[in-house]
Amino acid sequence: MNSLKDVLKKYIAADGPMHLARYMEMCLTHPEFGYYVTRDPFGTKGDFITAPEVSQMFGEMIGLWAAMLWSDSGKPEKLNVIELGAGRGTLMADFIRGTVKVPRFHDALHIAFVEKSPVLQDKQKCSVGDAGFTRTPIWAEDIDGLDVDGMTFIIGNEFIDALPIRQFEYTDKGWMERCVGISENGALSMGLIAADTLFTAHLPKDAAIGDIYERSPARDHYMERIAALIKSNSGAALLIDYGHDTSDAKGDTFQAMHEHAFVDPLDNAGNADLTSHVDFYRLRKIAKAAGCDVFPSASQGEFLHKLGIGQRAQILVESAPEKGAEIYEAYKRLTDDDKMGKLFKVMPITSNINGTPII
Ligand SMILES: C[S@@+](CC[C@H](N)C(=O)[O-])C[C@H]1O[C@@H](n2cnc3c(N)ncnc32)[C@H](O)[C@@H]1O
Repeated sequence: MNSLKDVLKKYIAADGPMHLARYMEMCLTHPEFGYYVTRDPFGTKGDFITAPEVSQMFGEMIGLWAAMLWSDSGKPEKLNVIELGAGRGTLMADFIRGTVKVPRFHDALHIAFVEKSPVLQDKQKCSVGDAGFTRTPIWAEDIDGLDVDGMTFIIGNEFIDALPIRQFEYTDKGWMERCVGISENGALSMGLIAADTLFTAHLPKDAAIGDIYERSPARDHYMERIAALIKSNSGAALLIDYGHDTSDAKGDTFQAMHEHAFVDPLDNAGNADLTSHVDFYRLRKIAKAAGCDVFPSASQGEFLHKLGIGQRAQILVESAPEKGAEIYEAYKRLTDDDKMGKLFKVMPITSNINGTPII
């Protein structure tokens, strides 16, 4: 057994075609061959660049958002900040540096990471240490393994999109599930199998042939746990991702990224990042049903502007004029509608706090 493709083929030969969630989970987090388990994929030499890697301003603005909400909520003596899927830990490092001057904030701050990749856990450890934060964070491989008490803020940038999805297609035989099998020539290929009524009972009744709907028990579960954590402890969550905010959006959004280009999600198993668009509408519904206060999503550009990213960029340029062009370019990349500003949405939820989150 020497590659993820071999492992996938073994499972498919034994159990039959594999639904997409299983495929996605194995490709991304298989303990030996998973994409995130075996590498640091970020940056120009990697496969993609995320907002915290574009500029320190992103993590600083999230730090400011959290510090203001903590302050509005009466500055409790303990604040847990949990980051989901923190990559290299860059957002958290900038969050720390950006809030160092907020009186008493770092005394209250307890950091936790939910991270499956041991490679990235190590990077997060270094980033937090380099940022000068001395209280040791805690790590859990998934949110079920985390137990915190006290006010809790949960942050996830490009995390929910990595949680596995299943896809259902309406055909002339009714609802079928899209799955990964092996073609006659031995390659991984997409096919359809009978869909579980557990899912089809809740799919739209007026679908047309060819319509595809995505569902993610893993994302639903995360949202339930996030809501439960902030409800029992008081606090807020801030989820930032690409996706849609309308009821029952349809379409195939499953995608793979390798060396900064879209590739076929079945090619390069374990060597490409797999994601799909996040259904913010559904996540908000789950949080609301759990008793949290919910807010419509805003675009990343609007959100960062409200927090003062323009002024921050100005200050950075004044203190390092030789980097002016670079700082301006990063600011535009994070906020412009035709770059990350509109594609990415920001959605807060809160529970039992006095303040209103900036959105
Ligand atoms: C697209 S990266 C985002 C990284 C970081 N938030 C950023 O913006 O740079 C996804 C992150 O989630 C982690 N991850 C992916 N699937 C996970 C899972 N099921 N459980 C825990 N962490 C996961 C990855 O290892 C990685 O750190």
